Order: sequence, then C-alpha cells, then structure tokens
Amino acid sequence: MSVQHFLTLLDLDPARLHQLIQRAIEMKALRQAGNQPTPLKGKTLAMIFDKSSTRTRVSFEAGMAQLGGAALFLSPRDTQLGRGEPIEDTARVLSRMVDGIMIRTFSDATLEKFAENSRVPVINGLTDRFHPCQLLADMMTWTENRGEIRGKTVAWIGDGNNMCHSYINAAIQFGYKLRIACPEGYDPDADILANAGDRAEIIRDPMAAAENADLVVTDVWASMGQEEEQKIREKAFARYQVTPALMQQASPDALFMHCLPAHRGEEVAAEVLEGPQSVVWEEAGNRLYAQNALLELLLGQGSAG
Ligand code: CP
Ligand code: NVA
Repeated sequence: MSVQHFLTLLDLDPARLHQLIQRAIEMKALRQAGNQPTPLKGKTLAMIFDKSSTRTRVSFEAGMAQLGGAALFLSPRDTQLGRGEPIEDTARVLSRMVDGIMIRTFSDATLEKFAENSRVPVINGLTDRFHPCQLLADMMTWTENRGEIRGKTVAWIGDGNNMCHSYINAAIQFGYKLRIACPEGYDPDADILANAGDRAEIIRDPMAAAENADLVVTDVWASMGQEEEQKIREKAFARYQVTPALMQQASPDALFMHCLPAHRGEEVAAEVLEGPQSVVWEEAGNRLYAQNALLELLLGQGSAG
C-alpha cells in the first residue's frame, strides 16, 4: 500500500512541486474568473488541530468546500484523542472514513506515527519542526510576483524554528540560497541544515544576512508551545527585528514575507509589515490556492491515495 503523504517538502520531488505551484496559480485564475474546478466531489478531509489556527483551518475548510468536498474540524477537546485514544488507532479508524487527513500537532513523531497507520494521504498542517503548506504559499507568491526563485538569495531573520526548517527544505527543492540570521542558541536543527549542503548557511549578523537578498522572511520569536519563553526570547532576539534599515540592506526590489500571525515591534517593524515590499496578505491568501492544488494532487482522481 503506497500512499502519498505530505509531511515535509521533501515528500514531493522538485518537478512535482514546480507543477503544483503552476497549478495553484492556474486554480487561482480559474476561481477568480468564476470557473472553480471541483475535482473533489464527495471527498472529505478530516482536520486535527492540537494547536490554534486561523489561516490553516479556514484555507483547508474553505478549500475543500470550493473543490466540491467537505472538511471536518476535529479538536482533542471533543474527540477521544483528548481522552487518550492512541494516535495509531485514530489513524486506522479515520482513514477508513475519509479521503485525506490534515494534522497540526506538536511532535513530528506523532505525525509520522499517524501517517504510518493511515490508508489515506496525511498532510502536515504544522508541527514543532515543519510547516510545509506555508512554503507552498510562499513559493507561489514569489513566483507570481517575481517568476523563478532558482538562483535567488533568501534571508531568514530570527528563530531557527519550524518555518526556518521549511525554508531550508525549500532551498533544496526550489534551488535558492538561504542565509539564516539567528542568535546563538536558536539555530535550526543541525541535521536539517546539513542536509541542505551549501544551499543554506548561518550568518549571525542580520544586516550581513540581508545584504542584497531578494527575499527577506521572518516569523515570531516564540512559537506555539514556547509561550513561557517569551520574555527570555525578547531579549535574545532584540537585534533580530526586520526594520526599514534592514530592508535597505536587501536588493532594492526585495520582497518581505511572514507566515503570520505577526507581532509588530518584535520580529518585524510595523512600517515593514505594512510597507510596499511586504506581500504578507497576498501570501496568506495564497494558502487557499496552494493547498487546493495540493488537495487535488493527493485526494483527486488517480491520486496515490
Ligand atoms: N500561517 C499560519 O499557519 O497561520 P495559522 O496559525 O493561523 O494557521
Ligand atoms: N512558528 C510559528 C508559526 C505559526 C504559523 C509557530 O509554530 O507558532
């Protein structure tokens, strides 16, 4: 039984990812022209959320409806998961009833165990280590605005977190060079970084990392599950705010991205978030189209699932 899951960006090869971004752009144009494709009639997606979400929940739920299917929101509070039913058992049961499952959770081991026991495609809606769906939207947004990202330079400013790890994987798959500016003690995972070879490197100084960059990206200093570290992190990351001065180091036509939610005055200055180089709202909106293309690929007719 071979099921195509999407747990990290490395689960699809570069050619498939490229096709997926092109299809997402096409699906956006079709929907905007009033010709929404409905390849998922009668299909259902279960969505398990162990962490909060606005964009991921709404984009998957709206997306399934637009594609002709339906989505079910499942929280541990009102399912047996919250009362200790093993994840393996839940995967075996749910995957006999639905056509795909999206999970947002803490540990990657939980996600992997779920996927191993699922008969249908499993999609990572964010874990402590990765957020691959966000990267589909980010790469789509880059492509719409600037074309090919291969050979470009991306500066990651801030925490070596799940988004940073996904930017490292995207550097491998999409062929850009990634400079990571993070304070000591907040580096990305060494194995994930090493896997990218010379595609990704740590440059401590945020100004140096941003120099002539084509894309500047950041994310919150304290991710979900790290709320009690907020104060310590504010101190550690004080020099790592994306400011107008930092954006001036970058290429004059550089774009700014942030997966959101954003904390103005922490990881990003309000002038940058709301400024002319910021494409964050478009980026958030593209979650819908990038994931619609992913859902069509994994759950549609002829899919491995
Ligand atoms: N960017 C993102 O995944 O947002 P949510 O946490 O609102 O889903
Ligand atoms: N790094 C953030 C991303 C939120 C979309 C978190 O995990 O909370």
